[in-house]
Amino acid sequence: MNREEKMRVAFYDTKGYDRDYFKAPADLGGLDLVFHDFRLCTDNALSADGAEAVCVFVNDKVDRACLEVLAGAGVRLVALRCAGFNNVDFTAAAELGIVVTRVPAYSPYAVAEHTVALLLTLNRKIHRAYNRVRELNFSLGGLVGFDLHGKTVGILGTGRIGRITAQIFRGFGCEVIATDPFPDTEWADAHGIRYIDLDGLLSASDVVSLHMPLTPETHHLLCDATIGRMKDGAYLVNTSRGKLVDSTAVISALKSGKLGGVALDVYEEEEGVFFEDHSETALQDDVLARLLTFPNVLVTSHQAFLTREALAAIAETTMDSVGRFLRGEEIPTNRRVG
Ligand code: NAI
Repeated sequence: MNREEKMRVAFYDTKGYDRDYFKAPADLGGLDLVFHDFRLCTDNALSADGAEAVCVFVNDKVDRACLEVLAGAGVRLVALRCAGFNNVDFTAAAELGIVVTRVPAYSPYAVAEHTVALLLTLNRKIHRAYNRVRELNFSLGGLVGFDLHGKTVGILGTGRIGRITAQIFRGFGCEVIATDPFPDTEWADAHGIRYIDLDGLLSASDVVSLHMPLTPETHHLLCDATIGRMKDGAYLVNTSRGKLVDSTAVISALKSGKLGGVALDVYEEEEGVFFEDHSETALQDDVLARLLTFPNVLVTSHQAFLTREALAAIAETTMDSVGRFLRGEEIPTNRRVG
């Protein structure tokens, strides 16, 4: 098959580690994989011209206008190489005859372990100790943390990631309470975890950890009112989606001491900031800049998924979906979105 006949898949918002893991399936006669480093949006969607499929990540903006350009360019599949799918307009995709797929599960362990790593780092001040010791400052002032053992951890969303996170906290000897519109009571009973309503969870938890999807119902679920119902000095961890949390409410609660610590792997305005090196430029986002001034705030740049195992699984599942689609085969229903 010559180059002109190869089917093309255009990848967006890619980094070196994506290119390392994504390989064309051998049986399709060689796919032409085109890697773009920019994020897909309406203005640049014509770059997909000639591609049967596009592969996008969490901050590509696949709204109706973008999908219309993609459809005009001949794109028939949008393959999300992530679990969350809030950045795609499914209604528009369906109307335009574009199939949307995602990777529902790759490594829930990657995200759950990062969640716990963030909390431990923040609570035990490892990030501060690391910097201190490197300057030969071996003092311990200001590094007092708390035992996780015996504390109450509230898990919002007991899907794949929330369940693993809950189990890890049980391993620390925490009491774990949870809320989910679809409770898995068999799992909860097996692990000594108790379901409770949201208000009960907020008022009883020393640590609140978010693991539900971003939907119109969950947008800014953590706001002035709900944070106000949390325990004084409680810790908040968000490795799910930035817009679950009202950042200005978090800043107020940090200033008043209502929140004792906040660990974020996601931020509501992360698009265009996270995944990029801004070290040579002025940060334009004043809310993020303010958050970064608090000694009890720890931010990572949406890296919870970033393990070798997760990257390999993401690439494998995504290319399996692309391959199935291009061969005209069924794609597992839990991978199809919308
Ligand atoms: P999942 O779909 O397996 O579980 C989500 C759970 O949240 C479900 O059980 C659902 O019933 C529950 N839920 C929905 N609305 C709720 C509400 N209002 N209150 C409480 N629970 C609610 O999803 P999974 O795989 O566990 O992922 C969770 C989230 O983690 C994803 O939606 C995604 O946004 C985020 N994520 C973040 C990553 C990162 O690198 N930081 C990587 C992968 C996922």
